[in-house]
Amino acid sequence: MQICVISGSPKGEMSVTLQYVRFLEEAFPEHAFSVVHVGRDIRTIERQEEVWDRLLATVKECDGVLWATPVYVMLVPAQLKRFIELVGERNATEAFFGKYAAALTTSIRYFDHTAHAYLHGICDDLGMLYTGFCSAHMEDLRNEAFQEQLVLFFTDFLEAIAERRPVQRVFPLLPAPSSPYAPVTPPVAVDTRGKRVVILHDGEPGSGLAAMVGGLAACYGDSVRVAHIRDAAMKGGCLGCCRCAFENTCVYDDGFRAFWEEYVVPADILVMAGTVRDRFLSAAWKQFFDRSFANGHVPAFAGKQVAYLVEGPLGHLATLREVLTGLAAMEGANLAGIVTSESGEIDAALHTLAERSVRLADRGYIAPPTFPAVGGHKIFRDEIWGGMRAIFKADDRYYRQHGLYDFPTRDYRQRITTRVTSLAMSIPAVRRDVVKNMPDYMIQPLQRSIETSTVLAKRRAKE
Ligand SMILES: Cc1cc2nc3c(=O)[nH]c(=O)nc-3n(C[C@H](O)[C@H](O)[C@H](O)COP(=O)(O)O)c2cc1C
Repeated sequence: MQICVISGSPKGEMSVTLQYVRFLEEAFPEHAFSVVHVGRDIRTIERQEEVWDRLLATVKECDGVLWATPVYVMLVPAQLKRFIELVGERNATEAFFGKYAAALTTSIRYFDHTAHAYLHGICDDLGMLYTGFCSAHMEDLRNEAFQEQLVLFFTDFLEAIAERRPVQRVFPLLPAPSSPYAPVTPPVAVDTRGKRVVILHDGEPGSGLAAMVGGLAACYGDSVRVAHIRDAAMKGGCLGCCRCAFENTCVYDDGFRAFWEEYVVPADILVMAGTVRDRFLSAAWKQFFDRSFANGHVPAFAGKQVAYLVEGPLGHLATLREVLTGLAAMEGANLAGIVTSESGEIDAALHTLAERSVRLADRGYIAPPTFPAVGGHKIFRDEIWGGMRAIFKADDRYYRQHGLYDFPTRDYRQRITTRVTSLAMSIPAVRRDVVKNMPDYMIQPLQRSIETSTVLAKRRAKE
């Protein structure tokens, strides 16, 4: 069979993910693999028609498409995202229609599921027959047990093609775009109480997004700064070279860092506004997110209020919502809100967002993390401490200084308590008592916290 591998890594032949493809080539010599390096060659693909035509011909001729890509900032790299946009813009979906597809990623398995959900949705939209995915940790290929699984994954893909296995669409079609937002009621400015508000966007003049940005900016009045991400003058997408790891300095000599320092760093309230392109924001926004990887794993929005304006059917894009909320939480911010162009109450929603974000910034509210941020932190902590810190020096310094190496093994008091309790449990009478009074023992420390709370004492004193 002829397999077309769409490689998303900007590193081309030096890609970690591509080594997994090379393994498959060795394991399945009876099948032919043609690799198209969309991640590496996106500029040429965009500009040179013959390169684009050759690429499409490879897709058309194949029996199955394997998307092979690293996970970049919870999704695929901006370069691959741009390629997917081009397929739509140039009406080239026909080349993909009816092809069997599977996805293979490498990552540290941090938000790999959102990258896979995105690719699955894209396959469904292109009319491809998506059979499944393999999400590898970037080091998994060293492990022979994993190699066996990789062979099984690919065998299943080949069998699906050979058997013409029926495949059901999982992600429903997106609704047709609604008419662009236009304000109905004039905005009323809120008191921003000296908070620095920044709105970053990629809306073109006259677009619905530009109108939403204008509407929100008017609510913030004079304290807001609005900038188009184009003004970051990025020369290109993240190259995945990881040379930023030592000192968090990027190899690009362009406007991104200065833009980041000027707008993102000082903002108390940061609003990011974008239009849905396929199933995510634009490739330009994705490039912006990818380039912020130069900050390493340091929470770049720590203490800020973050909000989003989304033009498009966010209600149908659970993965996009998960990435946006995940990004705010993982970067240490509070998600003050997301306003979309879907509902009828946009003017009121913009005003509420402005008011609420100021109020929350004023009070310093950062919502406690939920599972993705808690889990994400543990992945980063373990990966950085477990090996990456040899290279990711800046991360290591930050993690040490901010107590982020918070392994349970370091809590010696807790360890002693656990040991003593564990020993006590071997005494039948104690054990019987604990079993009988378990709920009591669970709430006792919490009751003590209520009794001794200085927060409550202060509130009572104010009354
Ligand atoms: C810009 C950038 C963003 C990344 N984002 C993620 C991420 O969100 N989740 C994750 O698990 N790994 C992430 N990684 C790690 C890569 O997915 C991993 O190193 C991958 O194996 C690289 O594959 P490649 O060599 O084929 O490009 C990121 C790496 C880079 C350079």
